[in-house]
Amino acid sequence: MAAISVEPCTFALFGALGDLALRKLFPALYQLDRANLLHGGTRLLALAREPGSVEDHLATIEAHLRQHVPAGDIEPAALERFLGRLGYQHLDFLQPEGYQALVEQVAGGMPLIAYFATAAAVYGAICENLERVGLAERTRVVLEKPIGHDLESSRRVNDAVARFFPESRVYRIDHYLGKETVQNLIALRFANSLFETQWNQNSISHVEITVAEKVGIEGRWGYFDKAGQLRDMIQNHLLQLLCLIAMDPPSDLSADSIRDEKVKVLKALTPITGEALGTHVVRGQYIAGYSDGKPVPGYLDEDNANAQSDTETFVALRADIRNWRWSGVPFYLRTGKRMPQKLSQIVIHFKETPHYIFAPEQRLQIGNKLIIRLQPDEGISLRVMTKEQGLDKGMQLRSGPLQLNFSDAWRSARIPDAYERLLLEVMRGNQNLFVRKDEIEYAWKWCDQLIAGWRTSGDAPKPYAAGSWGPMSSIALITRDGRSWYGDI
Ligand code: BG6
Repeated sequence: MAAISVEPCTFALFGALGDLALRKLFPALYQLDRANLLHGGTRLLALAREPGSVEDHLATIEAHLRQHVPAGDIEPAALERFLGRLGYQHLDFLQPEGYQALVEQVAGGMPLIAYFATAAAVYGAICENLERVGLAERTRVVLEKPIGHDLESSRRVNDAVARFFPESRVYRIDHYLGKETVQNLIALRFANSLFETQWNQNSISHVEITVAEKVGIEGRWGYFDKAGQLRDMIQNHLLQLLCLIAMDPPSDLSADSIRDEKVKVLKALTPITGEALGTHVVRGQYIAGYSDGKPVPGYLDEDNANAQSDTETFVALRADIRNWRWSGVPFYLRTGKRMPQKLSQIVIHFKETPHYIFAPEQRLQIGNKLIIRLQPDEGISLRVMTKEQGLDKGMQLRSGPLQLNFSDAWRSARIPDAYERLLLEVMRGNQNLFVRKDEIEYAWKWCDQLIAGWRTSGDAPKPYAAGSWGPMSSIALITRDGRSWYGDI
């Protein structure tokens, strides 16, 4: 692998014994180390408040690493090197006293990367404590989502951090931006002139973005129930995907050029209020059903559930963008828990040819589609119309793929997890893949209006069976416009 220059740093992980750190962040750091992408001088420091001995906590981290990294990727020499870099310090994040010990851990004049895998409510206090012991100057802070639960609370969190850190040293995570195919979306759009001329309301009829998960709430009921699917997935991941599809070409690849273009899209989103709440958006909640042929409980019957909850586990909506490029082109977004399969994909539907000359009964299949698959089977496929082969087939048409399947095309190359790329970019000081404060705020503003509308209208979530594609009304949402969700069985 080509060497990427990364300066040495101390990487301090606040909340190191939490689920995200153990399941995603340590495995990502290990994979970077294994690929020789961490500088020899880089130190990793696990910080947590849990009582217990250093040895026990380091053993917990190692055990999770072995569990979450594929067995074939655990190489004894790489693991030894990784564990050799890793230290642990007990730290109560709110108490200034412990931070002096942190200063001693941060070697020489190296930059400190402070990754906050904790509740957003303590971000401000951690920043203040870093400042107090003189570490803030050389620190980049990485903020995990959720940053607040509405515009006002997200401002409070961002303002608390901004008292000590300029925006140029704040890295807000949306892990979807680190996914390989999302990166490829930028290459596809801006390195191929072929698409750009077609990328507007003259050629595109509509766009679908689906992020479906097979899992239910998996022991996160308390957190999830306060958020719901709109805050948990639409406000961040789906709106970021929408921005990358809809934004104008940036003048260069710098972080701010890209983010300026994304902000313009967020500002141009039509608010969903009034009557549109009934026609343009559907919220659902799963009831008992089947997953992989096995019975599974409904949302209200999950462990620790409050049986009265009206939190949504599914949202489908039609978003419209008020600008020249996208006027009249709906973006249909849909995301839910306990769907039939894990699937994240974007489908761009191109318009029909202006004059149709083939047999009328074949007309329904007409229309090119560009399918961008984020997971599983990352790849891009362009569906084009061709003729069936054979003397007996006449001019019978079929829709077939021109396909680029990333895992087949570069079989030897492992597709890195989103967090690997994001952690590497923080170490390189590159903010391209991180979300700026104003992006978060415009996204909240749009979502807040929608949530306020639900609240005033008393809109209850529609039930859908676990293992289905959501409430019937989510199908009506798109069929009403004479379309259907791509690929639903
Ligand atoms: C997280 C959400 O941001 O994304 C989770 O909080 C969700 O609820 C997860 O399960 C989905 O991520 P991925 O990468 O598995 O699609």
